[in-house]
Amino acid sequence: MSPLLRDILFSRLHARFFIILSSLVATILGLFGPYFQKLFVDQLTGTSTPYLFSLNLTPLTLIFLAFACVLSAQGFSQLTGYLGIRESVFMQSVLSQRLYKQTLNLRVDTMSHRPVGEIIQIYAADIPGSTTFLEQTLPAGASTLFPLIFAPFAISMIYDIPLAPTLIAMGVITSLNTAMAFRQSKFFYSFKRLAGERIALVNEWIQNIRTIRILGWISHFEKGIFEKRKAETTNRISMVTNGQTMNAVASSVTFVLNIVALVSLIHYSNHRITGGDLLALLWIVGVFLTRPFRQMPWFFTFGFDAWTSVRRLEAFLNIRNENQNLTDQGSANERPSRKAPSDVALEVQNLNLKVGKKEILKNINLCVKEGEFVALVGEVGCGKTMLLLSLLNETGATMGHYFLNNKNAASMTLNEVRKHFAYVPQEGFIMSASLRENVAFIYDMRPDGDDQIEESLRLAQFEISNERVENGLATEIGERGVNLSGGQKQRVSLARVHYHQAPILLLDDCLSAIDVDTEERLVTQLLDGAWQDRTRILATHRLTILNRVDRILFMQEGRIIDQGSLLELMTRSQAFRDYTASVEKKLEDEYVSANA
Ligand SMILES: Nc1ncnc2c1ncn2[C@@H]1O[C@H](COP(=O)(O)OP(=O)(O)OP(=O)(O)O)[C@@H](O)[C@H]1O
Ligand SMILES: [Mg+2]
Repeated sequence: MSPLLRDILFSRLHARFFIILSSLVATILGLFGPYFQKLFVDQLTGTSTPYLFSLNLTPLTLIFLAFACVLSAQGFSQLTGYLGIRESVFMQSVLSQRLYKQTLNLRVDTMSHRPVGEIIQIYAADIPGSTTFLEQTLPAGASTLFPLIFAPFAISMIYDIPLAPTLIAMGVITSLNTAMAFRQSKFFYSFKRLAGERIALVNEWIQNIRTIRILGWISHFEKGIFEKRKAETTNRISMVTNGQTMNAVASSVTFVLNIVALVSLIHYSNHRITGGDLLALLWIVGVFLTRPFRQMPWFFTFGFDAWTSVRRLEAFLNIRNENQNLTDQGSANERPSRKAPSDVALEVQNLNLKVGKKEILKNINLCVKEGEFVALVGEVGCGKTMLLLSLLNETGATMGHYFLNNKNAASMTLNEVRKHFAYVPQEGFIMSASLRENVAFIYDMRPDGDDQIEESLRLAQFEISNERVENGLATEIGERGVNLSGGQKQRVSLARVHYHQAPILLLDDCLSAIDVDTEERLVTQLLDGAWQDRTRILATHRLTILNRVDRILFMQEGRIIDQGSLLELMTRSQAFRDYTASVEKKLEDEYVSANA
């Protein structure tokens, strides 16, 4: 059995046991209802019938007992449903937490083929789907199974007739139901898959709707979405048709059961059949066998469906990062092989990164001194971002050794590693919150520390009075507030880095959307001003900044192929000259097309 299914079914066993117990009590009490009613009718009509127990009760007591049994059976049946839902909600919270932890744990390179939409679908559809076992299968299963087991025995005991004909009829009906349910579960599976594909497409469409409109791609997307819808509708029609047939067959097939039970009674009964006999028989067959048989195909269908969800969820939870070199606990028994010089902020040797079969970073050796300002340059796709992410331990890169501030990173936890850094991602990052909260990176931040926040924004060249943020630091920005431009996002991200006093700054192309004048002030006041003593690694395509840095690392196809000052590289490296020429050419082309 799959470990996840085992957890879903068998954790909190006592609670699960109560579901079964409550369902069992509901069934037994329920079956006593028709029995007492039969005795009541027989007493009223003056017919003597054999008693199961030697009771001598008045008709009033008998009808009261029948009523009490039916009522409490109903109560226990409701209780079974309630307990099932409670267990299901509990398990959903457990599974959601596992999904959350797993998502947090997976690195960028491991996640590269998993769209966010897929994870959302697992969260929204498969987690509730998996717990259908608790909400549906267990209570419905118990309330299907127990009547099916007890009702034939009740018939046979009350009427003293053989079991075989009823059991054979039940066997045939069960097989028919199972076959139809299996067919239905296939439709359910396609339904989920198709809905998932459509949602992924709609998600992409909505997220990029403005760009798609500008590019004139709306009709392509709409066509794609409509086609998916069509496939879904066709599948849905088959599913509903099969479901209706299943219902019709399941309901009408119990008619056969009625006949079989009635014929058995007439044929085998050794006493005259009374009105009470017939009433109780129709009740037992009509309620205790018909209802479970009607439920049965759905019980199987939901079971198959839940199993699909468990498999999808389990597949995601089982994804492992390759080459996990740091864990949440750190590997404390690894000793530093040697000490790095004391003024070294970061030293990494023989860093390699492979994603699938593709080598992304190859034998990277990097040593950055405390307070040094290093630029990482190279063609688009040469591995700058992946190198920065590897230093943050966000990829599966392997390293010969890795020292941070003279300490071996292998003996640090992930959080300890990340505490050494502040990071600006290439696309910037803004959350839907106030400007104040975006800089401090804390929700519900009080205005006490505004001086520091304002100073950080000022150094990042984000002048509140010029930036159309009318409510100052309290202005809501991000998706639910003012949408910032690319350059504004980058400057807010830089202010955030300044506000948080981390020793090593990893800045991924954080000047790409900033104009030349602002860049000049930003470099003078912040990057090479207030941050003078901080260690800085800046990935960039801006040539203007290259004469301001201490050292340039020049990357090509995943390797650092040269390093030195701008003058040194321009003098000795043809590859570097080609690279700068191509960047200049690109800028020129952009200028020409913008002014055409
Ligand atoms: N999440 C990922 N999973 C797998 N491969 C990736 C991932 N991100 C990037 N890559 C690959 O790694 C290589 C390096 O990409 P990277 O983003 O580091 O380039 P870059 O130098 O930062 O480029 P740019 O100048 O455009 O920012 C590319 O070949 C890219 O296809
Ligand atoms: Mg990049």
